[in-house]
Amino acid sequence: MTPTVLILNGPNLNLLGVREPAVYGSDTLADIEAACRGHAGRMGMAVDFRQSNHEGVLVDWIQEARTRHAGIVINAAGYTHTSVAILDALLASELPVIEVHLSNIHQREAFRHHSYVSKAARGMICGFGAHGYLLALDAMARLIGPAGNDEA
Ligand code: DQA
Repeated sequence: MTPTVLILNGPNLNLLGVREPAVYGSDTLADIEAACRGHAGRMGMAVDFRQSNHEGVLVDWIQEARTRHAGIVINAAGYTHTSVAILDALLASELPVIEVHLSNIHQREAFRHHSYVSKAARGMICGFGAHGYLLALDAMARLIGPAGNDEA
């Protein structure tokens, strides 16, 4: 069965393309979704790509992933820096989690330097814009691939 990776996007990422393009790039979320779909497909994976502005919706989706998905790639956006609830849901999922940010959060305001998500993540990719999602899928393929671990 084709493993499906849940790619979750948090608040305001629906505005990509028009939102602060100097920081977040000119790709829309639909562009990123299409790129992820193609890239994952070439590696034998499927993607379930979602966005919500609502913390509880993201928590619900993470809870569902436990039985339906092989791993989670998450850009929790603003909730990265505030949400214990999203951290707890990710820990409960017991799935491999990869954190993504378009911008380099460590080059930005101090309040963006701390991520609750990182405690649940195998690794974090930030600062590469939309390409970061594809890098995350590369890493995920290695985590959930045939060898089932990153020694492959
Ligand atoms: C972001 C960085 C966050 O600090 C910010 O709140 C976002 C986007 C990024 O992808 O660079 O909304 O997660």
